[in-house]
Amino acid sequence: MGVAIEVKALNAWYGATHTLQDIELHIPANHATALIGPSGCGKSTFVRCLNRMHETNPIARVTGSVKIGDLDIYNDISPVEIRRRVGMVFQRPNPFPTMSIYDNVCSGLKLNGYRNRRELDEIVERSLRSAALWDEVRDDLKKKSGASLSGGQQQRMCIARALAVDPEVLLMDEPASALDPVSTSKIEDLIFQLKSQYTIVIVTHNMQQAARVAEKTGFFLNGRLVEFDSTHKIFTNPTDKRTEDYITGRFG
Ligand SMILES: Nc1ncnc2c1ncn2[C@@H]1O[C@H](COP(=O)(O)OP(=O)(O)O)[C@@H](O)[C@H]1O
Ligand SMILES: [Mg+2]
Repeated sequence: MGVAIEVKALNAWYGATHTLQDIELHIPANHATALIGPSGCGKSTFVRCLNRMHETNPIARVTGSVKIGDLDIYNDISPVEIRRRVGMVFQRPNPFPTMSIYDNVCSGLKLNGYRNRRELDEIVERSLRSAALWDEVRDDLKKKSGASLSGGQQQRMCIARALAVDPEVLLMDEPASALDPVSTSKIEDLIFQLKSQYTIVIVTHNMQQAARVAEKTGFFLNGRLVEFDSTHKIFTNPTDKRTEDYITGRFG
């Protein structure tokens, strides 16, 4: 099951640049939460603070607290374990190009020590079914490389790879912005199905997409979370003038 995420006094830097300032929010379990805002406002940096990827950059620094379920991810748990619990999908599908579809999906499992063939077969099938890709690739699992799939299929394979290690949270940073409209709508349908089991955080610059998939939406501007509310409220009756200016297309 997904778990709630509680962010308190989160600040992040690249070198001397203070990129995220005093972020506070509560992301509900088993829902999709969208993060919107103009390019460069800190959305990707924020999601990377939720699985401790931000700190893998040598010039980066972070303070504050992030709790995922009962765990303070900066104190109670290792970066490796947190990245198992918090899966991530990026804008560009990033398959391991020389690996088969099968090996792509179970790469994380193998890192986590799984060796049993039958168990791997079962998890690969279940993950590909959850990512709505099984029927398209079931006959080619070990024959075709992950990189031979179409862009939309590669992205669903990357989602299957993230799901294979049984995460609680799925972070998706503009997961459809490099895809065609049909593939985009498949990813949106998928988010709809997955949110009953996972807590989903999706960065998107597409406001219609946020409105279609997410119950909650946060608007970021210049490293601050300006407003966080139900998606309906954000898009119909925002409290902050800056949110209104953004959603009505006055900037960004
Ligand atoms: N690796 C990095 N090194 C230095 N600055 C960065 C790095 N990544 C992002 N930034 C800066 O941090 C700010 C926020 O970027 P980002 O989180 O990528 O925004 P968004 O995802 O909303 O477009 C931007 O000013 C960007 O230039
Ligand atoms: Mg980004």
